[in-house]
Amino acid sequence: MNATRPAAVVILAAGEGTRMKSDLPKVLHPIGGLALVGHAIRAARHTESEFVAVVVRHQRDRVVEQCQILDTGLLFADQDEIKGTGRAVECGLASLPADLEGTVLVTSGDVPLLTGQTLVELTTKHAESGSAITLVSARVPNPFGYGRVVRDRDGSVEAIVEHKDATDEQREIDEINAGIYAFDAAVLRSALEQVTDQNAQGEKYLTDVVSIARSEGLKVDAHVVEDLWQTEGVNDRVQLASLGRVLNQRVCETHMRAGVTIVDPASTWIDVDVSIGQDTTILPGTQLLGATTIGSGCTLGPEVTIAHSEVADAASIVRAEVHHAKIGAEATVGPYSYLRPGTVLGAKGKIGGFVETKNANIGEGAKVPHLTYCGDATIGEGANIGAGTIFANYDGVAKHHTTVGKHSFVGSDSVLVAPVNIGDGAYVGAGSALTHDVEPGQIAVARGHQRNIDGWVARSRAGTKSAAAAEAARAARGDSAHTDQSNSVDAEGDSTTEGNQSS
Ligand code: UD1
Ligand code: CA
Repeated sequence: MNATRPAAVVILAAGEGTRMKSDLPKVLHPIGGLALVGHAIRAARHTESEFVAVVVRHQRDRVVEQCQILDTGLLFADQDEIKGTGRAVECGLASLPADLEGTVLVTSGDVPLLTGQTLVELTTKHAESGSAITLVSARVPNPFGYGRVVRDRDGSVEAIVEHKDATDEQREIDEINAGIYAFDAAVLRSALEQVTDQNAQGEKYLTDVVSIARSEGLKVDAHVVEDLWQTEGVNDRVQLASLGRVLNQRVCETHMRAGVTIVDPASTWIDVDVSIGQDTTILPGTQLLGATTIGSGCTLGPEVTIAHSEVADAASIVRAEVHHAKIGAEATVGPYSYLRPGTVLGAKGKIGGFVETKNANIGEGAKVPHLTYCGDATIGEGANIGAGTIFANYDGVAKHHTTVGKHSFVGSDSVLVAPVNIGDGAYVGAGSALTHDVEPGQIAVARGHQRNIDGWVARSRAGTKSAAAAEAARAARGDSAHTDQSNSVDAEGDSTTEGNQSS
């Protein structure tokens, strides 16, 4: 057995967390995109302990379900009606092998900034000092509410006294118990049997194990941490926000040290599972959420949200909302673009201003530059989708697919009524409402012919400023004022193109 590896970690997560005033159990509230208990599980896993047990009671099924999504190898221990952290650990031990030997770590499901590294240091110190118990403590400016670490004259830890049970003199002590411990398994088991609920809260306190061990002549040590945030627990939503901000600051600093420029860390929010390549620049107001991957040399922001997405090298995204999407190398997105799930933008492709995409595979170098809805579509490389094009993918009952071939050109303000296929190198005239396929190399024009009716304004809008303006323009050109000719003009100047259109 490795002395610096604990035999088990027990995470206490049975409490209700009433001060959160929430239907969601406290330990499932997230910071940095991960539930509080998820942070505790990751720190525990960092120790490489064989067993990690989570003690549950309040909304048990919900907590277990979420923990299992994060980590399939956990043990779960149900705490019974007997209250207190001591009882919680007793129940946790019951889920572990009865003959377990070595070090058992106990941590809290609501102390999210505690690092795995601190747990490794705690375990190492515990093993090297030969103590029966080593607890994490900290000297804090305001110890109110915490258990105090009482030391005897030679400085060794004598007891932990809960705030509610402490004398005025003990309340002056500024060294607090962080609620994180390393125990010798056998000592913990036997001492817990002696713990009673004779205290101000009528609970079985885990902290009583300290004085019990001392009375048996065993050594108790404290591992004092300087980084107070690591010992801070979440009890209400004010603390949730402040710990969330500190975590975010730490995440941003890690990325900056690794070569990412973050112009304003205070307005940049990066979840713990995001990875970012070197020389990417992040402008203010940007959120990178979930398991998002960003390449190197990208520019993101200002005002960009990217969730659960992949962005390749040298892409540029400005003022956009991006969810479950993939963006290729050197592609550009924004401003004011909404990329919904299933959007795949090829290398050097473009999704421009006021464009919404969903389930859309946009090929390499293809462009959807302005004011478009593009849903359920495959767009070939180098194609250009004109301003205001709508991919009409929904017929009121089902969704249908549209394909636009390579290097094709869709004129502005077209409606592509799915299902419809446009071949490679084909054109669609502006303003078309396309309902039939277009073969490679064809142009499709699907709109009414233009009719110009001479003299209409003079007849039907006589006496208006429009009529006067027309009169003046005609006079200046030497035209006779009221000829009665009408003509029909084909937009492309070639009526045969429309003759190809089946109807
Ligand atoms: C505990 C410590 C206190 C320490 C503080 C650090 C005890 C008696 N006191 O106090 O010395 O300064 O943590 O934050 O241990 N839990 C259960 N089952 C229970 C009760 C609690 O699983 O029956 C869990 C909670 O969900 C929580 C953790 O144990 O994750 C701590 O419980 P909490 O009630 O917050 O303990 P404190 O009163 O803060
Ligand atoms: Ca607490």
